[in-house]
Amino acid sequence: MRILLTGSSGWLGRFLAPRLRAAGHRVTGLDVAPGAHTDMIGTVADRALIDLVFAERGIEAVIHGGALHKPDIVRYPNQAFVDVNLSGTLNLLEAAVAAGASRFVFTSTTSLMISTAIREGRGDAAVWIDETLASLEPRNIYGVTKLAAEQVCRLIHAEHGLPIMILRTSRFFPEDDDTHLILSGENMKANELLHRRLTVEDAAEAHLVALERAPEIGFGTFIISAPTPFVPGDVAALKIDAPGVIARYFPDAAALYARRGWHLPQSIDRVYDAGLAERVLGFRCKTDFTALLAAMRDGAELPVAHVADYISPKERSASVAN
Ligand SMILES: NC(=O)c1ccc[n+]([C@@H]2O[C@H](COP(=O)([O-])OP(=O)(O)OC[C@H]3O[C@@H](n4cnc5c(N)ncnc54)[C@H](O)[C@@H]3O)[C@@H](O)[C@H]2O)c1
Repeated sequence: MRILLTGSSGWLGRFLAPRLRAAGHRVTGLDVAPGAHTDMIGTVADRALIDLVFAERGIEAVIHGGALHKPDIVRYPNQAFVDVNLSGTLNLLEAAVAAGASRFVFTSTTSLMISTAIREGRGDAAVWIDETLASLEPRNIYGVTKLAAEQVCRLIHAEHGLPIMILRTSRFFPEDDDTHLILSGENMKANELLHRRLTVEDAAEAHLVALERAPEIGFGTFIISAPTPFVPGDVAALKIDAPGVIARYFPDAAALYARRGWHLPQSIDRVYDAGLAERVLGFRCKTDFTALLAAMRDGAELPVAHVADYISPKERSASVAN
């Protein structure tokens, strides 16, 4: 298929573009920043450019991963989020409909399900989060514009029948968390695989599966995250004694962690349940906490990429230009 991939210079894009090409697709990468997999430099907010890309490249399908995301909140005004994440998505959807494209995959985020109350861990139990969670009150402009873009996807599907898969991916960024700096980056990422992270390779693979299944499914919104070992009945215990719950599922986790001087989470405030993606989309992440512990046990390379100082390529090209 001739695919337009937005965000092709980014962290996801650099894994997804080669994976798509290896699967036999012809990929046009569009990004505001240059990159090895980017053929066109420009913004999704520019409708004329989008129309030109569709016409010149005969685009048949779209994977829309380009966005301003959470780390950009401190760098860009709210209006830029509306322009890129909302208007940009609308531009691509309308161009896809006009071109008679067969499918559209939108990279969304679990972040849009996180209200301030969930973020602050106010309840006395962890929050079990699946696609039925309501009402959604995203706590920042990133989540608000991603949720609005999801709604535009829903509307365009309803009005025009364009098959659209929305992937609410959890964390796969390689850099240190900008809000939790207590644990080392690798320790933090390992902990998150229990309930709120996936590898970037799995994120890329989910997009391939969504691309494949879109016409058959029609429309769907899926949490994409490593399968959690926990069950809804664990939520109270996870909040007050996460190491106790983890020990039930992984008796040697504490010892394996201790060897590295790592720490298990003391309390877990949310769990993403990716079961719907498994049941309906037919996608399950390959790497989970079990795989991570197996690597630790074997002394193998850990299956979670950690690049402490990763910054989005558009910021790198901006600093070169300045
Ligand atoms: N990284 C994560 O943990 C995470 C978690 C959930 C969802 N996501 C989503 O995954 C997608 C990819 O994120 P990433 O981690 O690869 O981030 P990234 O910043 O590395 O990549 C995003 C890319 O989008 C490009 N971009 C920004 N504005 C654009 C515009 N106006 N037009 C075209 N391209 C533009 C950037 O230059 C960048 O290359 C995003 O939609 C993000 O919201 C990421």
